[in-house]
Amino acid sequence: MQVFFEIQALQTYLNKERLQAKTIGFVPTMGALHEGHLSLIQTAKSQNDITVCSIFVNPTQFNNPDDLAVYPRTLEADCQLLEQVQCDVVFAPSAAEMYPSLPNIKFNFGILETVMEGKFRPGHFNGVGIVVAKLFNIVQPTKAYFGQKDLQQCAVINCLVRDLSFSLDLVICPTQREQDGLAMSSRNRNLSTEQRALAPAIYKALQQASQQLRTQPAQVVKKAIDDYFASTDGIELEYFEISDFETLLPVEELSEGKTALCIAAYLGKTRLIDNVII
Ligand code: PAJ
Repeated sequence: MQVFFEIQALQTYLNKERLQAKTIGFVPTMGALHEGHLSLIQTAKSQNDITVCSIFVNPTQFNNPDDLAVYPRTLEADCQLLEQVQCDVVFAPSAAEMYPSLPNIKFNFGILETVMEGKFRPGHFNGVGIVVAKLFNIVQPTKAYFGQKDLQQCAVINCLVRDLSFSLDLVICPTQREQDGLAMSSRNRNLSTEQRALAPAIYKALQQASQQLRTQPAQVVKKAIDDYFASTDGIELEYFEISDFETLLPVEELSEGKTALCIAAYLGKTRLIDNVII
């Protein structure tokens, strides 16, 4: 496995591979890798000649400096995991390498960045858009892989690719879960033992709401979820939305295969998100 810290060295390597008409699968991450990330690598490997994983804790997408400060950084362990799944290339740039100066450019993703995550994390999707656009330009992948776990991020990246005519295919991969249903997340390692025991309530709520929505109106289901979290100590619901999975606009009725149920909740200082599409 090749590990690069500098853009130019990575590009020299990839240009040679491209000359041999090799396809490049790209998995952008912020490290602290888990089975969820590795599933994207495995899918990328199965569909491309070369798989590149980037590891970069992107400061411009953190609207909360405390969140950035506690974000786990585990490059050595990450490289070991990537080696195990036979990832070909790791790109782990420093902040100075990615941002010699702070970008002036600003994205506006319209409604996609004003609902849900966008509402509670102002500036977050601008930062995601900037770093992903930079990474796409640096790596120039054939296909890029993202997890459904971050559904709104998928919608934003889809908009970025379409509006800026990036010549690549987006592949959205299913959410990987722990045995008790908790969506795998780098943030799970910040949970205390008690919080970890409570955390599966998020996915349980999504499953319960999915069932209810088959027979009851959205407003009733939303109220039931609010009540459920209000009566659960240790978890604070930030939002629960029933939305179209592409436009992310709220919907009143279930539309089979297109309706997303999305949650964000705090366990202490740790903020977790999850969603299901029904
Ligand atoms: P990060 O949170 O490290 O996630 C990297 C990729 O892994 C994202 O596409 C995310 O949706 C996917 N992922 C995370 N948990 C997953 C799970 N349980 N199952 C399946 N996929 C999962 O998302 C980011 O980093 C950043 O915003 C990034 C796109 C790298 C830009 O900085």
